Amino acid sequence: MSENEYSTIAVDRRDRVGVITLNRPEALNALNTELMGEVVAAAQAFDADPGIGAIVLTGSDRAFAAGADIKEMADKTFSDVVAEQFFGAWDALAGLRTPTVAAVNGYALGGGCELAMLCDLIIAGDTAVFGQPEINLGVIPGIGGSQRLTRAVGKAKAMDLILTGRQMKSDEADRLGLVSRVVPAENTVQTALEIAADIAGKSLIAAGLAKEAVNRAFESGLTEGVRVERNLFYSTFATDDQTEGMAAFVAKRRPDFQHR
Ligand code: CAA
Repeated sequence: MSENEYSTIAVDRRDRVGVITLNRPEALNALNTELMGEVVAAAQAFDADPGIGAIVLTGSDRAFAAGADIKEMADKTFSDVVAEQFFGAWDALAGLRTPTVAAVNGYALGGGCELAMLCDLIIAGDTAVFGQPEINLGVIPGIGGSQRLTRAVGKAKAMDLILTGRQMKSDEADRLGLVSRVVPAENTVQTALEIAADIAGKSLIAAGLAKEAVNRAFESGLTEGVRVERNLFYSTFATDDQTEGMAAFVAKRRPDFQHR
C-alpha cells in the first residue's frame, strides 16, 4: 500500500525519520482492525527502507489512542477472538529492527498504552494520561500490557494500575520509569522528531543491535542477556560502521556511517 492510501493513519517522512500519525479523531484513535493493519504495514514498510533510521508514532493532542475499539470488540465471542487471533498482528511491531519513538499527548489507555509500550522510547507530553482500564470492561490487557507494564514499572505499580484501571498522569509515569522524557505538550512531537533524527544519524546497524540487546534485558535473565549482548557487540566488528566510527573518533572528525 502506498503512503497516501491509508485511511486511518497519516504517513510522512522527514529526512531519515518515518512518521506514523493515528487518525481516527471521531473515536479518539481507538485501535480497530483496519488501523492495526495500516500501522503494522506502514511500520514494516519503513523498517524495510534503508533510507529510514527511526520511526515516530503519534496521535492527536487529545488522544494518542483511547484503547482497542470497544465498539468493534463488544459483540465478539470467545471463538471469534481465538479464531481471528485478535490483536495478534500488533506483535509485529516488537520485531522491528528500526528504533521507534512514541510521541504521546492526551489519552494512552488500554491498547493505546500498550501501543506506546511496544515502542522503544516514549516521549510524553505533560497532558498525557496512561492506564490499563480493561478491568472496567470485564476484560484484561491483550496487547502485552500485563507483561510490558509489569517489566517497566514492577509488580506493585502494575497490579495497582491493572486491577484498579485508574488513570496515571505523565509525572507519575515518569517517576515509575514508564516514559523516557516528559515535555510540555506543545513540544511532544517536535521533541520525538529530534530524538528520532538523532538516532537516525547513527549507524543503522549499531542502533538495531543496541535495540536488540536492550530488549533482551527486558525479556531474559541476566546471564543470558549478557551473553547475547557480548555476541551482538562482537558482531559490530564485522561492520564498516565500526571501523569508520572508531577511526573518526581517533581522527577527531564526525563519522560518516554507510550503514553496512
Ligand atoms: N473504543 C471505541 N470508541 C471509543 C473508545 C474506544 N476505546 N474511546 C473513545 N471512543 C469514542 C467514544 O465512544 C466517543 O464516540 P461517540 O462520540 O460516537 O460517542 C468518542 O470516542 C469520544 O469519546 P468520549 O465522548 O468518551 O470522550 P471523553 O473525553 O468524555 O472521554 C475517555 C475520554 C476517558 C478516553 C473515554 O472515551 C474512555 O473511557 N474511553 C475508553 C477507554 C478504554 O476503556 N480503553 C480500553 C479499551 S479495551 C482495550 O484496549 C483492550 C486491550 O487490551 C487491547
